[in-house]
Amino acid sequence: MPDALLVAVICGSRSDLPALRGCFDVLDRYGIGWEASVISAHRQPDALAHYVRDAEARGVLLFIGAAGLAAHLPGVLASQTARPVIGVPLDGGALGGADALYSVVQMPPGVPVAAVAIGSAGAKNAAHLAARILALSDPRLAAAVEAFRADQAGGAELGIDPRAAER
Ligand code: RP5
Repeated sequence: MPDALLVAVICGSRSDLPALRGCFDVLDRYGIGWEASVISAHRQPDALAHYVRDAEARGVLLFIGAAGLAAHLPGVLASQTARPVIGVPLDGGALGGADALYSVVQMPPGVPVAAVAIGSAGAKNAAHLAARILALSDPRLAAAVEAFRADQAGGAELGIDPRAAER
């Protein structure tokens, strides 16, 4: 049986998709049902509003918005829904993603967006953060989050030869 749809990932352009690969992989690893769409907040604002209403009606609990340049997509998503929005600033522009970061993180009070790191690291963390939020009401997911944390904690290397271990 496919995983129930819980997360909608929206990016502003097809050119954003490669940076989001890690996000999709992490969502899959947690067994979280997701769908992805390309809708620009600037170029297709009406389609974005319609999509959010439709996604909510189909059971989406959390939105991940990713965009570069003047990245208003996550903020516009947050203006259209009361469900949590995670914003991923992407680094396609001349300012190396600082433009997108400021656009995503500097939301006015009352319209919250949880901003993660710039680029592919942030894309992965958007999925991890989504899992942690959804895990609050999903014991299976809570166990998966704990399993990931335990796995990650097992990666410490004690008493190594630093020259041989150089990568
Ligand atoms: C943003 O503008 C998109 O999210 C993308 O990162 C950037 C460039 O978009 P394209 O010109 O490649 O469509 O809205």
